[in-house]
Amino acid sequence: MKIHNFSAGPCILPQEVLLKSSEAVMDFNNSGLSLLEISHRSKPFVDVMENARSLALELLGLEGKGYKALFLQGGASTQFLMVALNLLEKRAGYLNTGTWSNNAIKEARIYDDVYEVASSKEAGYNYIPKGYSIPEDYDYFHCTSNNTIFGTQMKSFPDSPIPMVCDMSSDIFSRQLDFTKFDLIYAGAQKNMGPAGTTLVVIKEDILGKVSRKIPSVMDYKVHIDKSSMFNTPPVFAVYVSMLTLEWLKNLGGIPAIEKVNEMKARVIYSEIDLNPLFKGYSVKEDRSNMNATFNLVNDDLKETFDTMLKEAGISGLNGHRSVGGYRASMYNALPLDSVKALVEVMSELETKA
Ligand SMILES: Cc1ncc(COP(=O)(O)O)c(C=O)c1O
Repeated sequence: MKIHNFSAGPCILPQEVLLKSSEAVMDFNNSGLSLLEISHRSKPFVDVMENARSLALELLGLEGKGYKALFLQGGASTQFLMVALNLLEKRAGYLNTGTWSNNAIKEARIYDDVYEVASSKEAGYNYIPKGYSIPEDYDYFHCTSNNTIFGTQMKSFPDSPIPMVCDMSSDIFSRQLDFTKFDLIYAGAQKNMGPAGTTLVVIKEDILGKVSRKIPSVMDYKVHIDKSSMFNTPPVFAVYVSMLTLEWLKNLGGIPAIEKVNEMKARVIYSEIDLNPLFKGYSVKEDRSNMNATFNLVNDDLKETFDTMLKEAGISGLNGHRSVGGYRASMYNALPLDSVKALVEVMSELETKA
């Protein structure tokens, strides 16, 4: 039976990427050696790293604009710390849109002062705050483009008078944005880019070198840039699979092409949530995420029936995050429209049955 994988991350990857990566594990580029047993300093792997770095910049439209791409380790959670270590001198402004923003704020506070420019905490993070101002004398402004857990997404970004840092872990490469608005973007690979194990950091070089503290080498963006993202042994498999996924996206027509599919998938699921009286959406309509649709059953007594029907239809990974419950359909780039249609079919079947 075909499994429809709505997992929130790690999550579905393109079949052809899985196939090519499994081949590379057995025999990388007909070398007779596995990708996993060659030196990361060997030319074949250095080429992989360079290709992955330049594809990331190309797809985001940031080539030749003073940006560098790095594939680092430690997940997006390590970036919460690295951003502050490298950029925070006195005070930074953070937009609090949920669990991940909170975690970023908590880590930055270890180093210096953090001010929440706005928060949607009082409403259980079901919307994106708007109309806030960003103080000009702060070191940087930090936001989270897509709130994976609560299912909200920033549809527009402020014109920040100070460097803008964005955690794009759960919607990078999914929609067209003017990426030059951002001075630092980071994203764990395990949603729209590849397997867990590497984090993409795209950084405008000229924002670095402005803090007075000593930064440990492995935490220093400048060190990673100077070493072409090879300061220490990189996560070779995760970088390789990310490179393949970026190639897959480029061959599809890049971000403009995938954005159309993503918009279609979101339209299909949200119209069912709105039309079917058995379900209600979690987030306010204008801020709904095209990546993670969060919803609940109006009557929890139907949960067992609905869960059984989902299982029978091969729908997997639909449980809401452990902190909020309910359901969450994660519809990352590699999830086909057909999977969303299969889910919607089960939802409307439940209506007929109930
Ligand atoms: C928006 C966002 N930021 C940060 C993280 C944490 O990422 P990691 O587990 O790679 O540290 C996640 C994980 O799901 C996320 O969705």
